[in-house]
Amino acid sequence: MRTIALANQKGGTGKTTTAVNLGAALGDAGRKVLLIDLDPQAHLSAHLGCEDAQVGSYELITRQARPDEVAIQLLPGVLDVIPAGLSLAAAEVELAGEVGRELFLRTGLQDLTGYDYVLVDCAPSLGLLTVNALAAVREVFIPVQLQWMALRGLGQLLQTIEAVNGRLNPELELTGVIGCMFQARRILCAEVLATLRQHFGKRVFKTVIRDNIRLAEAPGHALPIQAYDPRSRGAEDYKALAREVLARERRARAKAHDS
Ligand SMILES: Nc1ncnc2c1ncn2[C@@H]1O[C@H](COP(=O)(O)OP(=O)(O)OP(=O)(O)O)[C@@H](O)[C@H]1O
Ligand SMILES: [Mg+2]
Repeated sequence: MRTIALANQKGGTGKTTTAVNLGAALGDAGRKVLLIDLDPQAHLSAHLGCEDAQVGSYELITRQARPDEVAIQLLPGVLDVIPAGLSLAAAEVELAGEVGRELFLRTGLQDLTGYDYVLVDCAPSLGLLTVNALAAVREVFIPVQLQWMALRGLGQLLQTIEAVNGRLNPELELTGVIGCMFQARRILCAEVLATLRQHFGKRVFKTVIRDNIRLAEAPGHALPIQAYDPRSRGAEDYKALAREVLARERRARAKAHDS
């Protein structure tokens, strides 16, 4: 089971869009996927029509419920979601004074089985909920909006990942950087992408998510892009990203097998 947090404390970089549509594309590719909304804005839940759920990740992190009690089966056997629930906004404050406050999600997920991929959608902050996500997963993907100032703040994010890795979660690794909202006519987009490749090398996915209005429309219809407009560029790009994620996994497995 691969557990991946989509994190970037900058707002609007494509975290939620990537969690939903990469998750759905991995589901289309035959993987069993769980999406977890760990953002009090509850955009992922809204994108999938679950924003009114009474219970969700708040109950999971406060140990009032097990994952299977709060997971909603969107496509049974393919795609489940643990929505934010109504109380998540209070969690950050409530957890602040608790002992072991960074490890609540990790504890909540410790017996989780039955999924190939668990994707955690983080809020645009490096607060306690995001630290809980980083402490609970093995991998981080950073979606980056390919525009001016995109790289600003990434250093702080990397420091947080390093600190969580050193103190809370030795397995945590930054394994993917995803260029989002690419506009072919903007030289700046290509420049930012090149800078990302210089810094992060092969961790930057070859697949780039192009700017596509259909991706921005899909949440309003409470559908992943594959269901909303399967022929759109957005659907194509997330399908290609899912393929690349799976191909990397196969290569990593083959390497581990050979050594
Ligand atoms: N490739 C794209 N093309 C066009 N619009 C996009 C694309 N990706 C995301 N968007 C839109 O841009 C906005 C921000 O995207 P998204 O919500 O995924 O970012 P986020 O990082 O989750 O934001 P937040 O930090 O607020 O959680 C949304 O309105 C989304 O529909
Ligand atoms: Mg979001």
